[in-house]
Order: sequence, then structure tokens, then C-alpha cells
Amino acid sequence: MPSDQSPARKTPTRFAVLGTGHWARTTHARALADHPDVEFAGFWGRDADRTAAAAAEFGAGSWSGDEGLADLLRRVEAVTIALPPDVQADLAVRAADAGVHVLLDKPVATDLAAADRLVDAVRRNGIASVEFLTYLFMPEITDWLERMAALAAEHGPWEGGVFRWAGTLDAPGNPYAHSRWRRERGGLWDTGPHALSIARPLVGDVVAVAAGRGPRDAVNVALEHRDGAGTALSLTLTAPEGTGGSFATVWGPGGRHDLPRFTGTAQEGFARALDRLRAAAATGVPDALDVRHGRDAVAVLAAVETHLRRPDGTTPVAPAQS
Ligand SMILES: NC(=O)c1ccc[n+]([C@@H]2O[C@H](COP(=O)([O-])OP(=O)(O)OC[C@H]3O[C@@H](n4cnc5c(N)ncnc54)[C@H](OP(=O)(O)O)[C@@H]3O)[C@@H](O)[C@H]2O)c1
Repeated sequence: MPSDQSPARKTPTRFAVLGTGHWARTTHARALADHPDVEFAGFWGRDADRTAAAAAEFGAGSWSGDEGLADLLRRVEAVTIALPPDVQADLAVRAADAGVHVLLDKPVATDLAAADRLVDAVRRNGIASVEFLTYLFMPEITDWLERMAALAAEHGPWEGGVFRWAGTLDAPGNPYAHSRWRRERGGLWDTGPHALSIARPLVGDVVAVAAGRGPRDAVNVALEHRDGAGTALSLTLTAPEGTGGSFATVWGPGGRHDLPRFTGTAQEGFARALDRLRAAAATGVPDALDVRHGRDAVAVLAAVETHLRRPDGTTPVAPAQS
């Protein structure tokens, strides 16, 4: 993405986290605090007490409110964002307009217009962006994707795949049980980005979608891909206890293959994402997982939502007689 401005290229070292929830503290802040080459300035949150409590865990600074955000953005070179995605999209535009690089979480937004505004802001300000998609920062997964690409090059493109991603928000002790955006938007928007992060590199861009609902927030999606492959996603956040988890299988002339498990921690993956953001900022070369990649996933998820709202979205089957 050519930038409209060309800020002096420099590797960012001073970072803050926008957000104070479980993920913000245990993954973003932990990875920043443990990173040998960055300085973790502290947290921004909308609630001063909760932000101070998060900051105290790390002996870091705390900023809250609108003025606090403006002050923080003057003090840091980059922010990582662990907020509900609709909040993230607007605050990331603010960070970009302040010339601050952004490490985004998935999904980058929950509507296409907001994602497009963010793409514009990143381009306009010439800042770096990376979307943290956990699986794509794990060597077992990226090695497997490379092997799959080599097999497809040798034998022919993948023809299909099934991608199941299920969370168990209602299981005892789930740290995201009270996450409002998850309850409102469901697995489509929370686990959908993970499923697409594997499906898209395997079988290419999505050109059309159809979808139907299952229990609670469950959504089953049929995807048509640019080069003719067809895949299926099964997404939910409220799978019964003991039935959560993810798996993916792809098939074609190169055989049938299962996505492997990864063994690294989220913090290790996030540290890699930090390094990628720093490299993109230093070189001015956009990362392959920059905001545009995130925007394209939002386009698919938004199309699914549109399909689900169509009154003729599904074709009824004649009533069973048996
Ligand atoms: N890659 C992964 O596997 C993974 C795992 C977990 C999370 N994530 C991502 O991390 C991001 C955050 O997820 P989360 O689980 O932390 O979300 P969350 O629990 O729903 O919300 C995080 C925090 O955002 C704050 N917040 C809510 N509404 C706000 C608003 N209007 N303005 C400012 N702050 C607001 C709340 O803090 P206060 O109430 O204290 O203000 C809340 O604790 C999401 O993008 C999610 O997809 C990714």
C-alpha cells in the first residue's frame, strides 16, 4: 500500500496497550513487558480504576478518558489494541491520525465501512499495521501452510476444505463469558477471522457466500473462492462444554490434509507480531497481514451477515413424512 505521507523510517520502541481486559493483560502487555527491545509504557482504558489496577500489575503507566488517550498518543510510537472490534476500529483511526503504528487484534472491525475508514487512515498517515491472527504467528501452522502451497503447486489447487472453530463461552471459568461484543456478534465475528486466516491462504480470496444458522450463535457458511474451490465454515462461541475446539481439513489432487496443532503460547506469537510491526514501520514495506488483510476478512464476514438477514436466505425443505 503506497503511503500518502512518508514519515521518517524508525523502528518503534515505545508501546502502549489500549484495553485492560484479560487478553490485554495476559497476552498484549505480557508480551510487551517481556520483549527485550521494546519499552512498555502502560495501558489506556475507559475506566481509570481498572486501568490503574492493570498498570500496577506491570509497574507501568495508566491513562484513561479522552484527554488521557490524546496524551498517551503523543508519548508512544505504537499501540497494540485489545478492545471490542468496533471500539478498536475508531481508536485505531485516532492512533493512525496521531502518527502512531497499530498492532490490531482480530477482527479489525465489525462493519466494512469502519474497516475501510481504518485502511484509509493507515494509508493517509503512512503508518505500519499488523493484525494479530494467532494461528498465523505459529511456526507449526505457517510451515504447514507452506507445505500445502508446495503440494498445490505440484499437483493442482485445493478443491475444498472444512473449517470448524468453536468456543465455549458458557463453560465455567471462561474469561470471555462477560464479553459483550462476543455475546452480541457471536462466533461469526470472533472465531470467523481464525477460520478465514487458514482458509484464505489455502484456497484464495472469497467471491461469494451463503449461510444458515444453528443453535444459539452458531453459523454455517458456504464459501465460493476465486479460483473455483468451495469451502465450509462452522462457527460458534457457545458450543456445549467439552465440545469446543478447532479443526480444519483441506483436500484436492495433492491429497487430504489436517491442520496441525500448534504448541507455542499466545505471548510468543504476539512477540512475533510485534517484531513484524516494528519491521514494517522501519522499512515502510507493508506487512502481508496488515490492515488490508483484516479488512478483506471483514468483507467476507459482513457478506455472511447480509446473507443471514435475507428473508429468502434459506430454501425450506418439504416437511418430513417419516
Ligand atoms: N487471537 C485470539 O485468540 C484472541 C483471544 C482473545 C481476544 N482476542 C481479541 O482481543 C480483542 C479484545 O477482546 P476481549 O476479549 O478483551 O474483549 P472484551 O472482554 O469484550 O473487552 C475488553 C475490554 O474492553 C473494554 N471496553 C469495552 N467497551 C469499551 C468501550 N466502548 N470503550 C473502551 N473500552 C471498552 C472493557 O474494559 P472496561 O470495562 O474495563 O473499560 C473490556 O474489559 C478482540 O479483538 C478479540 O478478538 C483475540
